Amino acid sequence: MEKQMTDSKLTRNLFDMPEWLKQQTLEQQENAPYCGLGFKKGRLEPDLHARMLKNIEENVSLFRPEHNVREIESVEPGVIPVLFHEDREFNQSIMEALKPVHTTWSGMRLEESACYGFRIYQRGSYLYNHVDRTQTHIISSTICVDHRLEKPWPLYIEDIDGNPYQVDMEPGEFVFYEGARLIHGRPWALDGDYYIGMFVHYRPQDIASHQALQR
Ligand SMILES: [Fe+2]
Repeated sequence: MEKQMTDSKLTRNLFDMPEWLKQQTLEQQENAPYCGLGFKKGRLEPDLHARMLKNIEENVSLFRPEHNVREIESVEPGVIPVLFHEDREFNQSIMEALKPVHTTWSGMRLEESACYGFRIYQRGSYLYNHVDRTQTHIISSTICVDHRLEKPWPLYIEDIDGNPYQVDMEPGEFVFYEGARLIHGRPWALDGDYYIGMFVHYRPQDIASHQALQR
């Protein structure tokens, strides 16, 4: 029978957030707006997804270990948890291309904040639950660009009331989410060869209007 995500080894990581991260998460959440949107799955236009895969293929030799992400660890000794490559011009084009769907989802005029990626999570890596940067990562998406997994490696995300959800993502799918406010992560060890993610972040143009929505 297939092992469930409630396996003790996997759930242990979920609840073992380091103390610094617990504190940081609580403090950031207190100062983050909530726009009443929560999270929702979406799907990339096929040509946009194809552009991402092509960019990875063309730049595969440029991926390097990413060391400065304290939220990412690994249960596999000797395996680099995550590889990273950033093509700034390409990322800017992705952020612009995805702005309309984020505008539609949020119902707000948005400004571009950041686009990270590509990030290749390798076998054994996991991402502690956390929230994103308070001022800039208000309306976000986590994009599943590609993966080769032996078991699902779902996004964990809590709604505004703290109810937990797991969202499986296939290549070409993404999840809109309010990253500064909703706790999220991938707090279980990746069982497979890799998962390639990309992340886009926007903020409302009219800060006053979104602050009025704070809860
Ligand atoms: Fe995040």
